[in-house]
Amino acid sequence: MSYVHIEVDTHIGPVGAVVSGVDLSEQLNAEVVAEIHAAWLQHHVLFFRDQTLSPSAQARFASYFGELDQYPFMQPVDESAYVIPIIKEADATMNFGGDWHTDTSYKLRPPKATLLYAVEVPEQGGDTLFADATAAYQALSLAMRESLERWQGIYSPKLVHGQGGGYKSVAAKANLGQAYGGDADFAESEVEHPLIRTHEETGRKSIYCSKPHTVNIKGWTRDESLAIFRFLTKHLTQEQFVTRFKWQAGSLAMWDNRCMFHNALNDYQGHRRHMHRVIVKGERPQ
Ligand code: SIN
Repeated sequence: MSYVHIEVDTHIGPVGAVVSGVDLSEQLNAEVVAEIHAAWLQHHVLFFRDQTLSPSAQARFASYFGELDQYPFMQPVDESAYVIPIIKEADATMNFGGDWHTDTSYKLRPPKATLLYAVEVPEQGGDTLFADATAAYQALSLAMRESLERWQGIYSPKLVHGQGGGYKSVAAKANLGQAYGGDADFAESEVEHPLIRTHEETGRKSIYCSKPHTVNIKGWTRDESLAIFRFLTKHLTQEQFVTRFKWQAGSLAMWDNRCMFHNALNDYQGHRRHMHRVIVKGERPQ
């Protein structure tokens, strides 16, 4: 694929590309947006450096790719109802997003895109790992793929945001250094999605179920299901599928939740990390 308006460098790792030549704080014309969209579909996660984005500018850039969605468990920033702050204070111990997952897959229509902007990052640590769930799916045996494709998963926020969830307790809130809330009924809700989803735009299949958001395979116990989820997580986080992104203040990552997993590393105790996140609505997984 050749680009006229942007430069796309794929040397960052097995998945993803660094895009330059564009100022995301400006209003972008349709041709530039089309090139970014094409690069995103091809590389699954795009990284932009040295951007200066207010919450409104970040939301405007995200809106070029679809209708914005609101994250159900956190208060947005004052400037935009669609931008949530993801902050780990220097004295906090837990972090947000510190396990392999795709964002908010427990919603009926989970977000297709997440755009994460770095406001303040530690000098060392706080990288995010990104795993290619399409390539990982392709690398499974045909028999395994055929089995997985037949199974549905029960997805729910309850494992992390419900009564027994990791983010729920007062201690967890203090340890995260940030307040989490949200609708208690929704936090316990369940929805059925396939374990393997087909990308609406590319037609390619990817692993979709994850330990933090998929309670069980439909008809299986949690323990039985965990054996599969653990295997798939181990499989898709092998070196050949994973790119590690080192943030700088002003970096923006834009990933496709339909075909990517990510994991925010929590290896910067004693230092502050402050990000702004926007999500773009997707379709019901098929
Ligand atoms: C997330 O899971 O959305 C947060 C990722 C990060 O903070 O690196």
